[in-house]
Amino acid sequence: MEDRLRALEAEARTMLAAPADLRELEEARVRVFGKKGVLTVGLPDMKHVPVEERPLVGKLRNAILKDLEALFESRQAELAEQARQRAEAERELDVTLPGRVPRPGRRHPLTLMLNELVDIFAGFGFTIADGPEVELSYYNFTALAIPEDHPARDDRDSFYVTDEVVLRTETSAVQVRYMETHEPPVRIIAPGRVYRRDAVDATHCHTFHQVEGLLVDQGVSFGDLKGTLYALARELFGEGVICRFTPDFFPFTEPSAQMAIWRGQEGISTDPADPNGRWLEVLGCGMVDPQVLANVGYDSERFTGYAFGVGLERLAILKYGIDDIRLFFENDLRFLSQF
Ligand code: DAH
Repeated sequence: MEDRLRALEAEARTMLAAPADLRELEEARVRVFGKKGVLTVGLPDMKHVPVEERPLVGKLRNAILKDLEALFESRQAELAEQARQRAEAERELDVTLPGRVPRPGRRHPLTLMLNELVDIFAGFGFTIADGPEVELSYYNFTALAIPEDHPARDDRDSFYVTDEVVLRTETSAVQVRYMETHEPPVRIIAPGRVYRRDAVDATHCHTFHQVEGLLVDQGVSFGDLKGTLYALARELFGEGVICRFTPDFFPFTEPSAQMAIWRGQEGISTDPADPNGRWLEVLGCGMVDPQVLANVGYDSERFTGYAFGVGLERLAILKYGIDDIRLFFENDLRFLSQF
């Protein structure tokens, strides 16, 4: 009798262990404990057990029932936990969400502007030179004949790292560095970032970009400078662009000038009588001061040169009709994605 009961128990255990989810477990429960289940059918009816065996059989019967019920409950808990974990994993991985489409990158308007400038000057036969943004004050000021007491040197106008080291305030610093290591003729542009202690507003920023130009050779004249810069303006803005040269002063050029471009409501204006017309200064320039050439050991009797420094943001303002330079630095995608 005992063997028969143990075999029955083993069968029921297998049936309760097999199910892989709660639905299958429920089916197994019916097949084990239900009205026609293996236990109901297989366990002896106590009425038919001989009286002397009843205490033993009864005890075993109860123990088996209790164990199987406990097994059922633990299987139920186990499968419920598995179901909960599966649901959670599916929630994290929502396969119904639309896919993420990668947004194509775009070039920053200043990069576009610079690329255009580089192309134009490459066409004029210029190569690109580079210099450090953290610069010796010697190259930023002294070698450019900027006197010790010049206001540009003031630490209220420049970011000093030490007494001798400054965040360059102009790409002109590249001029002397380049000439020190190259013999004339020189024909370079030097684009880059510059820094000044300006409070930020629509037309000022502590960080901006310039493109320096330097040409040194025999017989270079102010006419060459003007011709080159006019050609630059026409290449950038078309034949109708209106430019103006006015005298200016820079310690490292003599004579010095600035060039302005006629702008209208939005971008450049080709109408000299434009009611919204006004000038925007875009660059400083001049003939390289013989002192600067002498500073780098060039023979200033034999060689002359011109130099200029263009404000990249200013050109972009004209090109794209932008009226606030903060837009270039705020990285607002609504602005950047328009280019
Ligand atoms: N460095 C000047 C500035 O930042 C611009 C400039 C003027 C550059 C005359 C030159 C130059 O090369 O010849 O305002």
